[in-house]
Amino acid sequence: MAKATGTAKTVGTAMGVDAARKDRIRRMMRQFPNGVALVTNWLDGRPWGLTINTFNLVSFDPPRVIVCLSRHTASVEAIEEVGYFGISLLSDFQVDIAHFGAAPGQPKFLEDYTDDRLRGGAGGDDPGVNPVSAETSPMVRDAHHHVDCQVAETFQGGDHALILGDVRDVRSADGADAVTPLLYYDGRYRHLGAPLESAGGG
Ligand SMILES: Cc1cc2nc3c(=O)[nH]c(=O)nc-3n(C[C@H](O)[C@H](O)[C@H](O)COP(=O)(O)O)c2cc1C
Repeated sequence: MAKATGTAKTVGTAMGVDAARKDRIRRMMRQFPNGVALVTNWLDGRPWGLTINTFNLVSFDPPRVIVCLSRHTASVEAIEEVGYFGISLLSDFQVDIAHFGAAPGQPKFLEDYTDDRLRGGAGGDDPGVNPVSAETSPMVRDAHHHVDCQVAETFQGGDHALILGDVRDVRSADGADAVTPLLYYDGRYRHLGAPLESAGGG
C-alpha cells in the first residue's frame, strides 16, 4: 500500500492564492476520491445536466444536501431562477454521460440521457416520453438514485455557489443498493476497489 512520505507543507488561506499554492491544492484534491453525479435542472424548458462531485448530505433532519457549482456555469442561474434541482448519481457504466456533462462550454441538454423530455407536459405526441411534472427535476436514465431538491439557501463560496437543497424525493433504480458507483480519483474515472474490512467494520 502506497504511503505518503516527506515533510508537511503549509498552504495559507485562499486569499490571493498564488500559482504554486493552487497547484498544491489541485494535487491534494486529486488524492481525494469522490462519487460522480449530474446536477440536473430545466433550461429553456429542456433537461440540462452538469457533472459534479461536490454532492453531500449536510443534514439528516431535515434532509438537506449541498452541491458546489462554479459561478460561471449556466446551471447556477437556471437553478436559482426555477428554485429546484436534481442530483442523479452515476454508476460505473455511465462514463459517457459523465464526460458529456463535464465538457467545458458545451451545451448540456440531456434529451439523449433522460426520458424526461418536456417540462410540464404529458410527453407531447411521443408515447415513449414520460409525463413530467412542472415541479420535478429531470432524472438521468439508469441513475442508481435521483435526489429531487428544493433550493433552501445559496451562499457565495468564492468562485463557487454553495447551493443547499431540501430533499423532496429520492428515486431509486431497481437493485440500486447493489450497483457499482462511478468514482473519480486522480483525474480519472474509476471502479470501486475491494473492501478492506468485512461488513460491519470488523
Ligand atoms: C468528475 C468531475 C467532477 C466535477 N465536479 C464539479 C463540481 O462539483 N462543481 C462544478 O462547478 N464543476 C465540477 N466539475 C467541472 C464541470 O463539470 C466542468 O467545468 C464543466 O465543463 C462546466 O461546464 P460549462 O463550461 O458548460 O459550464 C467536475 C468535473 C468532473 C470531471
